[in-house]
Amino acid sequence: MLDKRMQDAFNSQINWELYSGYIYLSMASKFADLGMSGGQNWMTVQYQEELAHARIMFSYVLTRGGRVLLEAIEKPEAEWPNGLAMFEEALAHEEGVTARIHDMATLALELKDHATYNFLQWFIAEQVEEEETAMDWVSKFKMAGDHPAGLYQLDKELGARTYAPPTPLVEIDAAGG
Ligand SMILES: [Fe+2]
Ligand SMILES: [Fe+2]
Repeated sequence: MLDKRMQDAFNSQINWELYSGYIYLSMASKFADLGMSGGQNWMTVQYQEELAHARIMFSYVLTRGGRVLLEAIEKPEAEWPNGLAMFEEALAHEEGVTARIHDMATLALELKDHATYNFLQWFIAEQVEEEETAMDWVSKFKMAGDHPAGLYQLDKELGARTYAPPTPLVEIDAAGG
């Protein structure tokens, strides 16, 4: 059975993952507004990943006999001047998410909840990737600057991303949710 404090942390993080998805969906809309369909695609895939993160945590809480309680999702920003600003915000946001996941792992250790500590390792590794990817796009957008040819090339690269459900979610779905 999940400790009440751990359950509260999961419920808060499930909300935060959905909020993350909402931010990226808003960025997808802004990329569309800028005429960059590749950026729109990339952000839509990112949105799907965040929803997957929420579902993986949702399933874990249930597995541990906990109760998922959903909260209101904060309204995301809607306007950014360009792709660089969006990826800079994505990076800052992901750094915040990393800090939250680390706090959860610390709480799990305090509670001697080693199963949760183990469960969170996937998310800790995932956050390393999330930050690395955002940093990568920030530097690429900085290199492209205002050059249309560079931005066109970047948009093509962003358009190549496809969504694949993360392994833990594939397992959850195979087990029937
Ligand atoms: Fe996430
Ligand atoms: Fe993320």
